[in-house]
Amino acid sequence: MPSSAPTRAETFRTTGGNVASTLVVEPSSAVGLTAETKPYRPLGANAELFAAREHEVVIEGPADCGKSRACLEKLHAAMTKYPGARAAIVRKTRKSLTSTAMATFERYVAPEGSCRLWNGEEYRYTNGSKIYLFGLDDPERLKSFEGDMAYVQEVSELTREDWEILTTRVTGRGGTMPYQQLIADLNPREPNFWLYDRERAGNARFLFAKHSDNPTITAQRLAPLEALTGYLRDRLLLGLRVAAEGMYFTEFDPRQHLIDAFPIPEDWMRWISVDWGFANPWVALWYARDRPGGHIYVYREVSAAKLRDEEQAQILVERSRDEHIQLVVLDPSMYNPRTEQNRPSIAQIYDAYGVTQMSRSGMAPGFNNRVQGWSIVRRALAHGAHTAAQRKVEPEDLPRLKIMHQRCPALTRNLPAMVMDPLNPEDVADKIGHVRTPDDEVDALRYGLCAEAQPAAPEATSRLVFGGGGG
Ligand SMILES: Nc1ncnc2c1ncn2[C@@H]1O[C@H](COP(=O)(O)OP(=O)(O)OP(=O)(O)O)[C@@H](O)[C@H]1O
Ligand SMILES: [Mg+2]
Repeated sequence: MPSSAPTRAETFRTTGGNVASTLVVEPSSAVGLTAETKPYRPLGANAELFAAREHEVVIEGPADCGKSRACLEKLHAAMTKYPGARAAIVRKTRKSLTSTAMATFERYVAPEGSCRLWNGEEYRYTNGSKIYLFGLDDPERLKSFEGDMAYVQEVSELTREDWEILTTRVTGRGGTMPYQQLIADLNPREPNFWLYDRERAGNARFLFAKHSDNPTITAQRLAPLEALTGYLRDRLLLGLRVAAEGMYFTEFDPRQHLIDAFPIPEDWMRWISVDWGFANPWVALWYARDRPGGHIYVYREVSAAKLRDEEQAQILVERSRDEHIQLVVLDPSMYNPRTEQNRPSIAQIYDAYGVTQMSRSGMAPGFNNRVQGWSIVRRALAHGAHTAAQRKVEPEDLPRLKIMHQRCPALTRNLPAMVMDPLNPEDVADKIGHVRTPDDEVDALRYGLCAEAQPAAPEATSRLVFGGGGG
């Protein structure tokens, strides 16, 4: 029970039984609610949200369309309309609610006196309704919740599992409202974002908000969104579900990097790099260089899953027959001893199958530092007059990297598909949502370009022949 009962509840005026389109929260006498903020009138997709009765409803759109405000207003309207109703506001962490949803709710949505924050855990209404505040960082509290509505702010922070658990918390068991609903707001994400699967499967209804749905929007407020570039602009200004979430290799330009195959002169230096895989593709790339510091041509790739180590070694040897290979650079993990399985390292198997012998300098482990490695890849991709001037080379010397695209289809497809790791923008993401990114070709590319950029570390010499001392 509230210790000090609120004194006022705002009134709602509805007509024609359609709460959604005509709902107006009257300006109350509460302090802090100005004519600008009340009455609240939902527009466009925000109004559709009020009318929606589906079990899962997501309002998606660019920044500053009034999505969050609409979700909170709907929650508040429902709590006021249905005495004794139970709702929740949910975010990934409880802490993040304070500065976002709660701030908007208290400042704009709930007229002073309509409800009271209790113990930092819930808003209690005079009519017995309650809105609980949950962070998914405290799953135990959430487990005991059963209610009519829940609003997830920034659903992109959640996992599929988080969301599915929430759908089981708003089921109407002991419900007070005529419908139960999980609502959420979202800025567009990459096309394979997990929540879009629920849209495709018909589990969730999506509504698309526009800037014109926010009556307070001004040119001045749009200016920072207009100034965005790349995928952020596409998503936050235009509301597009674009991939290339921070397209990692922004230097990539098919007109610059892809070329038709040509016969490679005998005397050019050639080398090979390998990224190991079994369930995921095993990738080998073949390179040739016209001169030190000159163009690097990727002239062959093999990208295939389910190849045994012996088969991989045989492919390297067979495909390189009649070619003078200088070095074979391996994924450094291929040197890991496998003593517990009583097996030689993969590098030792390659050695036994002739890979050391086929190349002048034998095999060597690739450079392990990913972030430094990516900067070497970027350097090989860089082009343009400005970069050429900086490096004191001719513009046509750049980019150094050229890919024979008909011979390297997987590399050609996957290089531009790489995205930034949201937790470490310096790195390539290995997953988007829960979907693995096809980074095997670019990992191989990284080993191959690093080997060219810097001679193998001295300790590599001792590691390369006997698999890290594993026997
Ligand atoms: N119908 C409305 N009447 C008055 N103010 C509104 C209305 N709709 C939105 N606003 C105001 O516009 C601002 C932006 O709204 P809100 O934060 O809900 O946008 P959003 O779409 O959730 O943005 P983001 O994607 O950045 O989270 C808020 O200050 C909100 O109070
Ligand atoms: Mg918002």
